[in-house]
Amino acid sequence: MNATYDEIYAASLADPDAFWLGAAAAIDWDTPPERGWVEGQGWFAGARLNTCHNAVDRDVEAGRGKDTAVIYESPVTGTRRRIAFTELRDSVARTAGMLARLGVGHGDRVVIYMPMIPETLFAMLACARLGAVHSVVFGGFAPPELAKRIDDATPKLLLTASCGIEGSRIVAYKPLVDEALELARHRIDHVVLLQREASPAPMTADRDIDWTEALADAAPARCVPVAATDPLYILYTSGTTGTPKGVVRQNGGHAVALAWSMTNIYGVRPGDSFWAASDVGWVVGHSYIVYGPLLAGCTTLLFEGKPVGTPDAGTFWRTIVDHDVDVFFTAPTAIRAVRKEDPDGRFIGAIGAGRLKAMFLAGERADPSTIEWAEQHLQRPVIDHWWQTELGWPAIATCFGLGDTRRRAGSAGFPAPGFHFALFDDEGRKAGSAGDGHLAIAAPLPPGCFSTLWNNQAGFARSFESFPGFYETGDAGHVDADGFLHIMGRTDDIINVAGHRLSTGQIEQIIAGHPAVAECAVVGADDPIKGMVPCAFAVVKAGAPQNDRLASEIVARVRGELGPVAALKRVCIVDALPKTRSGKILRAAIRRLVNGEEAGTPPTIENPDALIAIRAHLSDAS
Ligand code: COA
Ligand code: AMP
Repeated sequence: MNATYDEIYAASLADPDAFWLGAAAAIDWDTPPERGWVEGQGWFAGARLNTCHNAVDRDVEAGRGKDTAVIYESPVTGTRRRIAFTELRDSVARTAGMLARLGVGHGDRVVIYMPMIPETLFAMLACARLGAVHSVVFGGFAPPELAKRIDDATPKLLLTASCGIEGSRIVAYKPLVDEALELARHRIDHVVLLQREASPAPMTADRDIDWTEALADAAPARCVPVAATDPLYILYTSGTTGTPKGVVRQNGGHAVALAWSMTNIYGVRPGDSFWAASDVGWVVGHSYIVYGPLLAGCTTLLFEGKPVGTPDAGTFWRTIVDHDVDVFFTAPTAIRAVRKEDPDGRFIGAIGAGRLKAMFLAGERADPSTIEWAEQHLQRPVIDHWWQTELGWPAIATCFGLGDTRRRAGSAGFPAPGFHFALFDDEGRKAGSAGDGHLAIAAPLPPGCFSTLWNNQAGFARSFESFPGFYETGDAGHVDADGFLHIMGRTDDIINVAGHRLSTGQIEQIIAGHPAVAECAVVGADDPIKGMVPCAFAVVKAGAPQNDRLASEIVARVRGELGPVAALKRVCIVDALPKTRSGKILRAAIRRLVNGEEAGTPPTIENPDALIAIRAHLSDAS
């Protein structure tokens, strides 16, 4: 039991409006909120604010201009830069001026396809400053994925850099952007291109604008007050189909929830240093590299590197010590990668962990042995917590900032204030305590969670249909006797590959597009580092050559259409897929076989031989 947490959690459910209106006092408003949740509009309807002002300008105005806002640590370029709040304000204001001169205003969308560099933060905050809506696309996505997002968000501008740097590999972004713009139906007048020394790119005449030149004579723009319910950003995430879901986040609820989480979940105060080792292309990057720390007046660390190889498995600990990081957040997969290189924790032993108070993990299930390893070597609490792109901030956690340190390996903690969970069985009845149930959250969701899906209100509404009055998370789990919530996995076809969320259905669609493939199934195979990796089974069309090249063509196709992040390496060409009598592919049985479990013979199976053949295929391959 933790009395402070219990009291605050109970208060958040007893009177959510009063609770969140209280939390809203942490934010500067142009028109303060008088109402909490307003059905059909969102949180704090009627109020006005500017998110960029809250993240940047107000610290300068409060006399904190010289304090460090951003530390850019880039082992891949050998750069280390500290950006004070005043410098951040000036850079963001000028970037906003540049965007405004190019016609971007309130409500316009701007797609950002950029690496982990300060200009990416400036661009996101510049959009917020103008009341424009950014949509950041992760650099590991291929041109067709970028094109889908361009067509859905219909941006005025696209911002990019000439390259990203992935460990020692240079990823030229410009050809990817060119291809995406060829594929997209939506026309963009201009691409603003930031040239990076590592690999400058040729400009496309009449379309491309040089970032540095455009910025040179841009006038600083002021913060534009917007409605609390206006969208701040769209972030696309994998759904169960090939079409990504454009999660929409409103300005007001987002600012309030993130500021609340920084203090009460992560336990940081203005002036503390917070480091989320993620990518700005993911929700963790949006919430805890860019907005959360800055809204809380903290220093945020922007890290352009990998957990290992840049230069070694000590890079996390060195960065934590060198920059006095107070709280660190990463994905379990990153710790597994470090552990593989440094199983005895020699780097941590030699470097230490400085003033680090806690390490938080999320993005995928944290296996107990990874947590134990990290705690043993770090000698600090390692806290698993659970959330999703849709939710925007942790929904299950140990509220470290409230003095709670309870944790249990295998559990993501307790419901965060504002989140009222229920578990349902397959028939939609509230599940008992035995076994896992579908994890759902009572509507309305607290501030900061998605308000709709861009251009897809029906898809948003569908998330609330399976269990009326509740949002279906797509995860399954259970509560133990002490109230700890355990999240065991997805109930749909989403898999988490190295903390990256992917849809196996989407990968199947891409493979099925190969002219020689009759049908296919993709399942998640357990992986000691990435948690899960996709594994594909394909059946060749009658008459098509069943050659050795096919598997590598399929791998290349998925990489080319979805992106390198799909990490599809294993493709098995088989004669048939196991199916039920009604023709449904038995993916669960295939998945069990891939993971070395016994699949048995499902009673509904039409062709048991196909399952036997897959078992033989897998044992031949291993
Ligand atoms: N731009 C271009 N390519 C990218 C990319 C980006 N931003 N991010 C990843 N890729 C590429 C990688 O270079 C790699 O390419 P390769 O197949 O040519 O090697 C591929 O996509 C797969 O990348 P990744 O899954 O990151 O694997 P990895 O082997 O490079 O690194 C980890 C493995 C575990 C170290 C790394 O995935 C990691 O740090 N994960 C943490 C993820 C995370 O922070 N998730 C957010 C939730 S907290
Ligand atoms: P994303 O939207 O990319 O953040 O992915 C969200 C999904 O990742 C969740 O629905 C879970 O399936 C998984 N996930 C995130 N954090 C955890 C966690 N701490 N434990 C288990 N699964 C997690």
